[in-house]
Amino acid sequence: MKLSCIGCGPGDPDLLTIKAVNRIKRADAIFTPTSKEGKPSIALAIAKKYIDESRTVITDLIFPMIKDKESLRLQWKTNSRIIADAVHSGKNSVYLTVGDPSLYSTWNYIHKELKENYNDINIEIIPGVPSFFAFAAQAKMSLVEGDQTLGIVPACYDLDKIKHTVASCDSIIFLKDGRYFDSVIEILSETGFSDNSNITIAQDVSIDKEILETKKLKDLRNTKNPAGKYFSIMVARKND
Ligand SMILES: C[S@@+](CC[C@H](N)C(=O)[O-])C[C@H]1O[C@@H](n2cnc3c(N)ncnc32)[C@H](O)[C@@H]1O
Repeated sequence: MKLSCIGCGPGDPDLLTIKAVNRIKRADAIFTPTSKEGKPSIALAIAKKYIDESRTVITDLIFPMIKDKESLRLQWKTNSRIIADAVHSGKNSVYLTVGDPSLYSTWNYIHKELKENYNDINIEIIPGVPSFFAFAAQAKMSLVEGDQTLGIVPACYDLDKIKHTVASCDSIIFLKDGRYFDSVIEILSETGFSDNSNITIAQDVSIDKEILETKKLKDLRNTKNPAGKYFSIMVARKND
């Protein structure tokens, strides 16, 4: 009884691995995360062209964007039971996720539930291109060189907590929500980034209407950052 979790990459369907495409083509059941009933799943949109809809049943699983831990846990339990039922009924099952499954992914919650409650299921994880590597490729930049250190920070949480990472790394990747980047930009100067540090911001990397801009920190401080959506990335390089 096997379940494959597939990292679908950042958005361009050509960035899926051959192994991922082969698993998707053979799937009887595909599970895709979405935040609300009726809202199209981004992972599904990326993988869609490889799905044989005449044989594959696609099921959206809801992962609401809420902070109440108890409601979230109940939802993860429900979602993992739905997946386990399909695997137990002999269906070749696949779970799709954006980017790579190991990075801030809904898969993490499903995986924990499956290991705890359905440990007869054989799980395979197929890596995907993480959004920030696609970002670096589009921006034609290197993230770190030589002895430099790299931090990955979700921008939408406690700013005091992220100050420590920001202070101790040479390059920082900020993920999760461009709407928080203006507050992050304010703390960069306080934590060792010079006015001339290059800050690159992108939205919808490798998807239609991609936005990608590099600006000096001093210029960004007085303007609104160009990314206003959840699907945004900002990279700050201290030593440029
Ligand atoms: C829940 S995390 C998932 C990360 C994903 N597992 C990965 O490997 O990149 C969602 C965040 O990833 C980033 N992201 C994923 N795909 C992106 C894209 N195509 N363009 C810009 N940001 C993206 C954004 O920062 C977004 O808020």
